[in-house]
Amino acid sequence: MKIIELENVSYSYKENVVLRNLNLAVNKRENLVILGGSGAGKSTILKLILGLLTPDTGCIKVLDHDITNLKEKQIQPIRHRMGMVFQGGALFDSMHVWENVGYCMLENHDAPMEKVHENVREKLAFVDLEHAFDYLPAELSGGMRKRVAIARAIVCDPEIVLFDEPTSGLDPIATKSINQLITRLRDEKWVSSVVVTHILKDAFAVANRVAMLKNGEIVFEGGVEDLQRSKDPYIREFVQ
Ligand SMILES: Nc1ncnc2c1ncn2[C@@H]1O[C@H](COP(=O)(O)OP(=O)(O)O)[C@@H](O)[C@H]1O
Ligand SMILES: [Mg+2]
Repeated sequence: MKIIELENVSYSYKENVVLRNLNLAVNKRENLVILGGSGAGKSTILKLILGLLTPDTGCIKVLDHDITNLKEKQIQPIRHRMGMVFQGGALFDSMHVWENVGYCMLENHDAPMEKVHENVREKLAFVDLEHAFDYLPAELSGGMRKRVAIARAIVCDPEIVLFDEPTSGLDPIATKSINQLITRLRDEKWVSSVVVTHILKDAFAVANRVAMLKNGEIVFEGGVEDLQRSKDPYIREFVQ
């Protein structure tokens, strides 16, 4: 069953055509990895799925809703069912870890503080950072910041999580722990994920399926084994 669908989606920033007639779907409970070099349009795809950008042509369906032309107010409840892990983590430096993680609940003033704390603790435990509850972001390593960003993305139990270059800048050990968390979200919390990255190893670590993006088009879609076997020169270059 499809949980995200992009049909014939094109997007340009002024004259810069970034996506051309893109067709892409994400199935329920799978990790789709979108591989592509820098500037390929990966982050743009995530912004379109979140409804932060509107496509020039085509249509986008998320969680059984056509979000293509929804107004900000209408899109909010759907966006609330998605979590986003931004490139670099994007934590609020002046807020403690628990406030960063609970941000989406604190914003919604109906949530009682006890409930916020409970959810934050549960999510921090999931990413193995319970002890960092009262830390400030400045006290965290790069890998820990990313784990806090993941805890924040899942605090409201989203059905979809979008990851923008989740391992960039991390050492191999931190990379492994982030990739394990992405896999555990699928297996233990039944989350469907889109992971965009330029790092092939991450695709092998987390992907059920891979889509490769080049010049605004999908040039490959399939399993990681098919990717390895591909004879396409561009893909070969990426894989080697
Ligand atoms: N806000 C923006 N305004 C103008 N051009 C942009 C903007 N964001 C991205 N671009 C351009 O669109 C292209 C794709 O960007 P992006 O989706 O960020 O690629 P990726 O995430 O794969 O590195 C790049 O050429 C980039 O310079
Ligand atoms: Mg990007």
